[in-house]
Amino acid sequence: MPVTYIANSIRPRSTVATLRPRGTSVHTMRTLLVLCAVIAATSTATVAESLDPHAVYEQRCAACHLPHARELAESALDRRDGKVVLKGSGQSLRQFLAHHPRRAPTPAEAEALDRHFNAMLQTGFLYHQKCSTCHDRAVVVARLFLTLRDGQLVGRYTGRDIATFLEGHGRLDANEVPVIAEMLARQLRR
Ligand code: HEC
Ligand code: HEC
Repeated sequence: MPVTYIANSIRPRSTVATLRPRGTSVHTMRTLLVLCAVIAATSTATVAESLDPHAVYEQRCAACHLPHARELAESALDRRDGKVVLKGSGQSLRQFLAHHPRRAPTPAEAEALDRHFNAMLQTGFLYHQKCSTCHDRAVVVARLFLTLRDGQLVGRYTGRDIATFLEGHGRLDANEVPVIAEMLARQLRR
């Protein structure tokens, strides 16, 4: 029998059911309680800024959706008037996540993800098209090989100025270079 997908960004049901062993639920509850305490103590905005959207996606979304945030963005999301919306209905992602059918993210998590998806949709998946044939995901390349020195993006081991390096690398147009350089720098600012 063919596998039936709930929506094309959703994994088949059987995958969802086998992903989390029962024993983790107590731990999950404890983590949630700690999270609630943290959120109560700090403002949503501050928490969202310190949250790593990659980790949020992996821990809170990937079990049911595609493994990487980029893939979910590509298949289910759009950017309209500066906002992230659902491709199908045009509803804003923030509104949708507040009433997400199952295991809705906290407002801070939703904000961190919304910002992440927005930035991703803005770069138009350029990295995926022009860099992924040779490189790992942008977050991995940035965190392993790059660093910020006085706000300037440089090679951690080569000391290169990356914006200059990219002018002759990866077949980027002149106007794409700053977009990609900024996207890589953003991976290091949190
Ligand atoms: C327990 C499983 C589960 C988890 C965890 C989960 N989702 Fe979902 N998600 C669903 C289901 C089920 C739907 C509804 C699909 C439908 O009705 O078409 C859905 C729908 C969506 C949609 C609407 C677009 C689409 O593909 O249908 C988006 C966007 C979405 N989820 C994002 C997220 C994000 C972001 C997270 C992490 C914060 C998350 N989801 C966590 C199960 C889950
Ligand atoms: C055809 C394969 C290929 C493509 C496509 C490619 N790269 Fe590279 N990239 C390499 C190789 C090989 C190196 C290591 C050699 C070097 O440092 O000159 C490298 C090095 C890098 C470095 C490390 C620089 C440093 O000083 O440590 C960065 C950053 C980088 N690439 C970014 C990108 C980006 C962004 C894109 C897409 C626009 C891209 N690359 C496309 C092959 C590629």
